[in-house]
Amino acid sequence: MTSASSAKLQVRNISKVFETKKTKTDVLQDISFEVGSHEVVCLVGPSGCGKSTLFNVISQLDQPTTGTVIHTGRLAMMFQDPALLPWLTVDKNVAFGLDRKQYSKTEMSQLVERYLKIVALEQFGSAYPHELSGGMKQRAALARTLIIEPNIILMDEPFSALDAQTRERLQQFVQTLLQDYPVSIVFVTHDVREAVLLGDRVLVLTKRPAHIRSEYKIDLPRPRRSFDSNLDSYIRSITEQLQAEALLYT
Ligand SMILES: Nc1ncnc2c1ncn2[C@@H]1O[C@H](COP(=O)(O)OP(=O)(O)OP(=O)(O)O)[C@@H](O)[C@H]1O
Ligand SMILES: [Mg+2]
Repeated sequence: MTSASSAKLQVRNISKVFETKKTKTDVLQDISFEVGSHEVVCLVGPSGCGKSTLFNVISQLDQPTTGTVIHTGRLAMMFQDPALLPWLTVDKNVAFGLDRKQYSKTEMSQLVERYLKIVALEQFGSAYPHELSGGMKQRAALARTLIIEPNIILMDEPFSALDAQTRERLQQFVQTLLQDYPVSIVFVTHDVREAVLLGDRVLVLTKRPAHIRSEYKIDLPRPRRSFDSNLDSYIRSITEQLQAEALLYT
C-alpha cells in the first residue's frame, strides 16, 4: 500500500447511487484506494459493474453520492474515443488544452513539436484527424493529454477500440513513457492481460454495486512484454476471480 503522504490520488469511501423517480441503482459501494507517485493502478471488473462511473467520479465529471477524491497536481483524462476535433489539424488538436495566455506562439509550436515527436507523429502535424489511422488518432490524443504535463493520467479503456497489433504498440508506448515521465496512471480496462502488463497494482472490482474484491501487486520488472510467460499466473488468478463474479449474475 502507498503511504498517504506520497499518494497522488486518494479515493475515499466512494459510493454512487443513480436515482430517478422510479428507480434506484446502487453502482459503487464504499470504494477506497490510493495511487502513489509514479504508480500505475489498473481497474478491472465485470462488464457494467461501474468502472466508467468510478472513472467519472475520480475525474470529477460526476459527483459521488458519498465519499471524497483528493489529488495533488494536474489531472488529465483519456477515453476510448480519441475525441479529436475534426476541423482542426493535429497540431491544433494537440495544442488545444494549452493556456494561450501562458505561452507565446513560438513556445506553443515548440511544445507541440516536442509532444508530436514523443508519440512519433512529427510528420503529421498539419494533417486532419480523418487522415490518420485509429492508432495514430489515439497517439494524437495522448500527445494532447501529455502536453499539459499532468501528474496523473486517468484512462478509461483507451486502447480497447484498436486492433490487437496497434493496441500492443500503444501498450509498449505507455511503458516507454513510464520510464521517461514522472506520471501516475489510473487505467480502466476489461482486458486482464493489459492490466497485468501495465499495472503496478491491479484492483479487481465485483459485479454491481462495485466494490474492491481483491488487489494484486504485480511484482514484475519493466518493460514487460505482453507475451511474457511470467504474466500468466497473475492473468489466470485475476481471470478466475472475474469469472466467479460474472457467474454471480445468473
Ligand atoms: N447517468 C446514469 N444514470 C443512471 N444509471 C447509470 C448512469 N450511468 C451509468 N449508469 C448505470 O451504472 C451501471 C454501471 O455503468 P458503467 O458504465 O459505470 O459500467 P462499466 O463497468 O464501465 O461498463 P463497461 O464494462 O460496459 O464499460 C450500469 O448499470 C448503468 O446502467
Ligand atoms: Mg465503461
